[in-house]
Order: sequence, then structure tokens, then C-alpha cells
Amino acid sequence: MQLHRIEVSTASRCPTVANNGFRSFIQEIGRASLSQSNRYSTSLFMLIRSAISIGRALMKQMILVRSYCPDDLEKIAKILSEYPSPTGTIWTKKLVQEMMSDAVKEQPDGVFVAEIGGEIVGFAIVMYRAWLSIAYLDYIQVATKWSRKGAGHRLIERCISWARAKNARILYTETGRNNDTAIRFYKKHGFHITGYIPDYYQKGLEAVILVNKL
Ligand SMILES: CC(C)(COP(=O)(O)OP(=O)(O)OC[C@H]1O[C@@H](n2cnc3c(N)ncnc32)[C@H](O)[C@@H]1OP(=O)(O)O)[C@@H](O)C(=O)NCCC(=O)NCCS
Repeated sequence: MQLHRIEVSTASRCPTVANNGFRSFIQEIGRASLSQSNRYSTSLFMLIRSAISIGRALMKQMILVRSYCPDDLEKIAKILSEYPSPTGTIWTKKLVQEMMSDAVKEQPDGVFVAEIGGEIVGFAIVMYRAWLSIAYLDYIQVATKWSRKGAGHRLIERCISWARAKNARILYTETGRNNDTAIRFYKKHGFHITGYIPDYYQKGLEAVILVNKL
């Protein structure tokens, strides 16, 4: 009876002890492999981050900003047609032609295009008002396929340095109040919201005025 009790208690204890030992052994391995895999994940994460920033730097180097020439017109018309105009304008070839030739007439050296591998991916129009010593960013647009690759950044940087070279005191622009992407983009490039113009594009569609003090 006693022996039986010992056997039972031994039997009941040993597996528990063995279980505990085995469990902690497994837990140790788990912990070790977890910390190992955490180390791997951290290294992998850092590797991916470096690859992304190298990729971004390479992409920025690949982007060329140059002056507009009439041969670029068709590609610009295509880029314009990708975004709905806030005024509801339909970008016909004739209208794009008029817009670009007006821009070149008003500011021959203020029309830029961004190129990646020979493809036109965006454009910008900037104007200098000599009588006020201010510059106005009339247009900046990047093809949807190439957005968030730094082309907008390169274009706006060119417009800012262009305006500085003209000795402009400020560079200002306007966009739809609901154009969050553009507003964030401008703020990232030193612009501040200074006001709003109600019904600017059409009734009920307000413009936000953004100013960069150069
Ligand atoms: C506003 C606009 C010109 C920006 O052009 P873009 O080429 O996309 O701009 P960038 O690539 O330089 O920067 C945009 C974002 O991409 C990020 N980015 C830049 N290079 C990147 C890259 N290689 N990979 C991933 N993201 C990148 C930037 O950090 C930025 O991020 P955020 O928006 O979170 O702040 C473009 O969105 C556009 O044409 N919009 C429609 C027209 C418009 O609204 N024009 C302005 C008002 S009229």
C-alpha cells in the first residue's frame, strides 16, 4: 500500500519534473531562436531600409530637370490628362498647346520638364514678377506612374533655386483646399499656408495660398 503510494507519487511527480524540464528546455530553445530570429528580422529590416534609401538616392540621380522644348508637348498633354482639373477643364491638344505657348511667351526660362531615362515624367511652370520681386509657381505635375519617386522634389527644387537666382523675395502658389497630397508636398518644401480664396476654381471649391519665403 505504502509502496503503491510511493510509486504513485513518484510516477505522478517524475513526469511532472520531466515535463517541467522538457518545457523549460523547449522554452529556452524557443527564446534563443526567437531572439535569433529577432536579430535576423532587425538586420533584414535595416538591410531593406538601406536598400530603399540607396534606391531613392539612385532614382534622384537618374532624374534630369531641363528646360521645356515644343517636342515635349504631347507627353505634357498626356500627363495633364491624368488628373482631373479642379475647374473641370478638358485638356484638349489645342488647350495644352495654348497653355504651354503662353507660359513660354510669359517666362521663356521658367518652364521645366523632369526626365527619367529619356522619358518625360513631369513638368513645372514658374514665373517672375519683376515689379514686385516675387515668383509664382503656376503649375507642377508628375505622371501618376512616376509619382512618389522624387521627380516632384527635383522640379520644385529647381523652381525654388530659379526664383532665388532672380532675387525673388517669395515663391507662392495655390492649390485646391482638398488637395492634401500637394499641400503636404509644398509644406515639405518650405511653403506655409497663408490664406484661402473662396470659389477660386469654381463655386464651392476654395484655393489655399501657400508661400515660401526665399
Ligand atoms: C504634388 C506632386 C507634384 C508631387 O510629385 P511627386 O513626384 O510625387 O513628389 P515626390 O516624389 O518628390 O514626393 C512625394 C512623396 O514621395 C516621397 N518620395 C520621394 N521619393 C521617393 C521614392 N523614391 N520612393 C518612395 N517615395 C518617395 C516623398 O517623401 C513624398 O512623401 P510624402 O508625400 O509622404 O511627404 C504630384 O503628386 C502631382 O503631380 N500631383 C497632381 C497635381 C498637383 O496636385 N499639383 C500641385 C498642385 S496644382
